[in-house]
Amino acid sequence: MNQQPKRGDFAKEKGEIVLREHEYDGIQEYDQKLPNWWLFTFYGAIVWFVVLWVLYYQTNLFKDSHQLVKEQITAIQKAKSAELEKTLASLNDSKLVHEWATNAQVIAAGEATFLTYCTPCHGADLSATLTAGTMKVPLPGLPLNDHQWKFGGKPMRIFQLINEGSPPESTGHNGAKMQVWGQTLSPKQIAEVVSYIISKIPEDFKDIPAN
Ligand code: HEC
Repeated sequence: MNQQPKRGDFAKEKGEIVLREHEYDGIQEYDQKLPNWWLFTFYGAIVWFVVLWVLYYQTNLFKDSHQLVKEQITAIQKAKSAELEKTLASLNDSKLVHEWATNAQVIAAGEATFLTYCTPCHGADLSATLTAGTMKVPLPGLPLNDHQWKFGGKPMRIFQLINEGSPPESTGHNGAKMQVWGQTLSPKQIAEVVSYIISKIPEDFKDIPAN
């Protein structure tokens, strides 16, 4: 039998570059074997995929990312509620009015939080309006300086409202509700912001006795 030498072998001997016969848009391919090191990593990756797939999905050796995320969220929520419980246990109306809201550092921290998160809806002067030239534009929030407390004016009640957002039965103010700030702010930050509000309108809280 007449053994045809392979095109590649023949060309290699002559040091020529071998091209495959097909052509597309004037582009041709080299006809060359991939280097062994490349092929080994390629086959190795396929084997590794099968091994890992079996270990990861068919055994309980590894936790999947869904489980890991869930565990982390549970841990964070536990830490958060522990912190809230601690803060609530150490706080009361009297402390907020007579200790926190008289502390310049606490008020400054509360003001910073208020300016960052609350002014867009309640206004920098708590009036829930924005003064633009001669116009007063109403903002979405309730005024906090009108001496009316829709959800109760006790400091701890205000704390709760900010922490938990509008109660479910509230239809909101022009349809807008308060969000759950406990997701964003720590209990300490909420206590500071309540202290800031108290310091701006102390007359609303003058009936709270010092312990
Ligand atoms: C996106 C707009 C928005 C932002 C931001 C916002 N609020 Fe409100 N807030 C509202 C609305 C709307 C209400 C009225 C809720 C209702 O009637 O259910 C409200 C109600 C309140 C009340 C109750 C007022 C009352 O009369 O009892 C307090 C206190 C309050 N917000 C504090 C804050 C604080 C503190 C922040 C910042 C951490 C803040 N709000 C950020 C929209 C906002």
